[in-house]
Amino acid sequence: MTNILSISHLNKTYQSGFQALKDINLEISKGEIFALLGQNGAGKTTLISIICGIVSPSSGRILVDGKDIIGDYREARELIGLVPQELATDSFETVWNTVTFSRGLYGKAPNPAFIEKILKDLSLWDKRYNKIMTLSGGMKRRVMIAKALSHEPSILFLDEPTAGVDVSLRKDMWNLVKILKDNGTTVILTTHYIEEAEEMADRIGIIRSGELIMVDNKLALMNKLGKKELTLQLQSPLQSLPKELDLPSLSLSEDKYELTYRFDAKDEDINIAQLLQKITSLGIIFKDLHTKQSSLEEIFVNLVNSEEDTNEA
Ligand SMILES: Nc1ncnc2c1ncn2[C@@H]1O[C@H](COP(=O)(O)OP(=O)(O)OP(=O)(O)O)[C@@H](O)[C@H]1O
Ligand SMILES: [Mg+2]
Repeated sequence: MTNILSISHLNKTYQSGFQALKDINLEISKGEIFALLGQNGAGKTTLISIICGIVSPSSGRILVDGKDIIGDYREARELIGLVPQELATDSFETVWNTVTFSRGLYGKAPNPAFIEKILKDLSLWDKRYNKIMTLSGGMKRRVMIAKALSHEPSILFLDEPTAGVDVSLRKDMWNLVKILKDNGTTVILTTHYIEEAEEMADRIGIIRSGELIMVDNKLALMNKLGKKELTLQLQSPLQSLPKELDLPSLSLSEDKYELTYRFDAKDEDINIAQLLQKITSLGIIFKDLHTKQSSLEEIFVNLVNSEEDTNEA
C-alpha cells in the first residue's frame, strides 16, 4: 500500500521554549480518512501547520507522496489543500474569482468546469458572484474549502471544519468528505466532536500534550478500549447482592432496582447466558434488560482523564 503521508520523529519546540510536538510518527495511506482528536492546545494545528509548510519543524522528516516538505517544498505543497482553523475571508472579491485565483497560485492551468463542479458540490453556485464579505460564516467556511480544493490536491487537511457551524452544514461537510473519499482524496481532519470522528474516520489518532498516544482503526479502538454494560431492571428491589453474585464488575443501583454488569467489549470469554442463569436460579426476577457499548466519546474522556491522574501522581 502506498503511503501518501509519512511522518517520522517529528518534534516542535516553539521559540518560547514550549515543546508542542514530541516524537510524532505517523503513516497515512492513500484515500484514507484520518481524524486527529485532542483537547485544546494538544498540538493538532501545530502538526497540520508543519505538514503544510506554515510552521517549521524543529526536527524530524515529513514526506508527502514521497516529496520532502522541506527539500521538495513546492512539489509537496502542490499535493496539499488546507482549510485552516482560523478563517481569514473578509474579502471584496467574489466567490468565483477567489477560488479561481487560488487555483492559479499553484500554477495550475485554468479550468472553469472544475471550479463550477466544486462550487456546485459545496452549494455555492448561486453565490458565485457574491463578494465574500457578504456571505454568512458557514458559507465563508465553504469558500475556504472550495479554495483548498481548487488545485485538485491529493490530500486535504480540514482543521476543525465544523467548529461553530450548524447541524445542516455539518452534515453537508460529512457528505462532502464522503464524496472526496470516493474520488480518492485523502482527508485528515481535526475535530472536537467525537461524533464526527465516529461518523467519518477510517482511523483515529489521539494526541495529548504533543504526543500521539494512540493511532488505530476506529472500530478496533472502540473494541479495544470500549466497555460493554448489561443492565437488568428488577421486578422487585434487592436488598443486597447475594454472595454468589459478589463480583467486582457487578453492582446494584442505589434504589436497589437495577443490576449492572460491566465487562470488556473485546472479552469473548464472558458468558452472559451463565450469569443470567445464575441470577434466575437465585430467584431474582428481572423485567427488562439492555446492553450498551461505550462510545468513542467515553473512551476519549477516559484517556484524557488518565493523563490528569498521571500528572497528579
Ligand atoms: N506560535 C506559538 N508560539 C508558542 N507556542 C505556541 C505557538 N502556537 C501554538 N503554541 C502552543 O502550542 C500548543 C499546541 O497548540 P495548537 O494550536 O497546535 O493546539 P490545537 O491542538 O490545535 O488546539 P485547539 O484545539 O485549541 O485548536 C499550545 O500550548 C499552544 O499554546
Ligand atoms: Mg487547533
